[in-house]
Amino acid sequence: MAAGRPARLDCERVLTNSERVITGPISPYVVETRGLTRAFGPLVAIDKLTLSIPRGGVVGLVGPNGSGKSTLIRMLLGLIRPTGGSAEVLGIPTTHPERYAGRVGALIESPAFLPTLSARDNLRSLGQLRGLEDARVAAVIDAVGLTGREHEPVARYSLGMKQRLGIAAALLPSPDLLILDEPTNGLDPAGIVEIRGLLRDLAAEGRTVIVSSHLLGEIEAACDMVVIIRFGEVLFSGSIGDLLARAVPHVEVTPEYPDDMDRLAATLVSSGWRIANQGDELHVAADEDATCDINRAATSIGVTLRKLVAAQEDLEDVFLRMTGTTDGELARGRAAQARPEAESDVFAAAGAASLGTDA
Ligand SMILES: Nc1ncnc2c1ncn2[C@@H]1O[C@H](COP(=O)(O)OP(=O)(O)OP(=O)(O)O)[C@@H](O)[C@H]1O
Ligand SMILES: [Mg+2]
Repeated sequence: MAAGRPARLDCERVLTNSERVITGPISPYVVETRGLTRAFGPLVAIDKLTLSIPRGGVVGLVGPNGSGKSTLIRMLLGLIRPTGGSAEVLGIPTTHPERYAGRVGALIESPAFLPTLSARDNLRSLGQLRGLEDARVAAVIDAVGLTGREHEPVARYSLGMKQRLGIAAALLPSPDLLILDEPTNGLDPAGIVEIRGLLRDLAAEGRTVIVSSHLLGEIEAACDMVVIIRFGEVLFSGSIGDLLARAVPHVEVTPEYPDDMDRLAATLVSSGWRIANQGDELHVAADEDATCDINRAATSIGVTLRKLVAAQEDLEDVFLRMTGTTDGELARGRAAQARPEAESDVFAAAGAASLGTDA
């Protein structure tokens, strides 16, 4: 070997494949993507997505149906190839998933288990395929809280137990990174709370858990960080606190008589306020200071108000405003039309907090 050759290459020459997996590059990020793109024919499911997910904790990947969550996860696992850009998992390019496969556990959609076999035997056969010892099976059954039920055939399992079993299977290789695609899908409220607790426990063991959901409310309580995507683009990436800081104040206004709604709306708009129609009430983009002026504007046209309440969006409102309420299963061409409509129905996001009569 020539003198001065990089030490890393010397090292790789003598390492076995499995050792190389364990001694892979140390990156502060479990996932890094740059301009990651995936098109299915004319439909762009993931669109130049650039994202960094740091190590540790529970990370929620949230977006409406069809926003690209599963497509992103499949690319991260090396199951499908990007059509553009690049991604790294645990510092290793997704062009070489074999190098990180042993350190990443995944649950994608409903995992298939043999219904007549017990949970334990299903896990044992999966473990044997991976060359793992049976002791891992008992450990993962315990980790997901199925101890005592592991001898029952999977056919008898409830949906929640099947999801736990799926997570147990993902935990078999004792992964640094766990990626769970919609593990709360179809669960009842108690099942959702259980899975959330499990996610927190797994993160407390030092793993990074990436969990997708189309409902922020289902996973928000478990998440240290959330990434919100829509039409394959990142809309937000940060803590729940940062997301909540985007909540927009508004004043909820209802006229005494519903027939006065249009007249009231026209007056408020002509006075310079931005409004959104929310069923039988109007939401005015303004904070509490504006309530007296809104009241005066209504009185000036002879409208008495039944309701005049200053309010703040909650997390779900912020999420819905960002992602819109249109069905995500839209072709990309229709997406462009849907976006402005979705934003205008609860004012525009930016700067609404400072809106008043001068908006
Ligand atoms: N194999 C495929 N062929 C064609 N289009 C696909 C394929 N896989 C996904 N898509 C499309 O890509 C877009 C993103 O789909 P994806 O399954 O990633 O969304 P998702 O966020 O996981 O949705 P859901 O919440 O419903 O699981 C959708 O419009 C979908 O129809
Ligand atoms: Mg999906």
